[in-house]
Amino acid sequence: MKNILDAPFVEEMKKTTANMYRLGWDERNGGNISYMLDEKEVAEYLDLNNVIRTIPTGFDAKELIGKIFIVTGTGKYFKNVEYDPENNLGIIRIAEDGTTAELLWGYADGGKFTSELPAHLMSHISRLSVDPENRVVIHSHPTNTLAMNYVHELDEKKFTHTLWEMCTECIVVFPDGVGVLPWMLCGTNEIGEATAEKMKEFRLVIWAMHGIYGAGKNLDEAFGLIETVEKAAQIYMLTSHLPRINTIKDKDMQILAEAFGVEYRKDFLNL
Ligand code: 13P
Ligand code: ZN
Repeated sequence: MKNILDAPFVEEMKKTTANMYRLGWDERNGGNISYMLDEKEVAEYLDLNNVIRTIPTGFDAKELIGKIFIVTGTGKYFKNVEYDPENNLGIIRIAEDGTTAELLWGYADGGKFTSELPAHLMSHISRLSVDPENRVVIHSHPTNTLAMNYVHELDEKKFTHTLWEMCTECIVVFPDGVGVLPWMLCGTNEIGEATAEKMKEFRLVIWAMHGIYGAGKNLDEAFGLIETVEKAAQIYMLTSHLPRINTIKDKDMQILAEAFGVEYRKDFLNL
């Protein structure tokens, strides 16, 4: 059996959490990641019959029975993952009942998965229903995205439109736009259900005055979506108090989307 600490997926989690911490997006225990793993690959590192302990999830994820995820721990700091993956990460499998997580590795100090597991697993279910290749859900608190929540209308069309205007490539990177949820209590099944509903339509969902969710087929894709929104939000925060002299026009964005051949939310442009 190979050493789990050498597994590429553990390495990827270490790199991603370290990047997110250093970008200032994930203070203290802010943010969480879930990444669906390939069973055969995990079996090279772990005995899949050895369940360390079981942890109730508090919701039914029957669509994910048997699926294995590497997930950041609740209360754990992204800055510490690279130095101590075994305490800060865990590998769980959704048990036959759909409501229990079987711990296969990690959470070594007796911890458990992120408090946002409902939003993560429910979002996986939604994304998989529209994109069978989806494997990653990331939640984060990026600074400028959060700042923008306080000074910009929280309307999906208007919020997306402003982000698209901030960098030429935005409409190409997230042509499906950004979903927006109002402020809600985090860590609950309710916010999980609301996020998952948005995830049927969007790969990015803003949690007002809290943070953002991004989903993708790998860590790079989910990270890159959030990174692009955050860059656009930064440009907005740097310029919104100044007179706007130049702007990317809606017609330009249409030309861009067509040139890159992306399916975009035409109803989010004012043509
Ligand atoms: P966890 O520490 O439970 O992952 O929570 C962090 C967070 O960002 C809550 O929204
Ligand atoms: Zn959060």
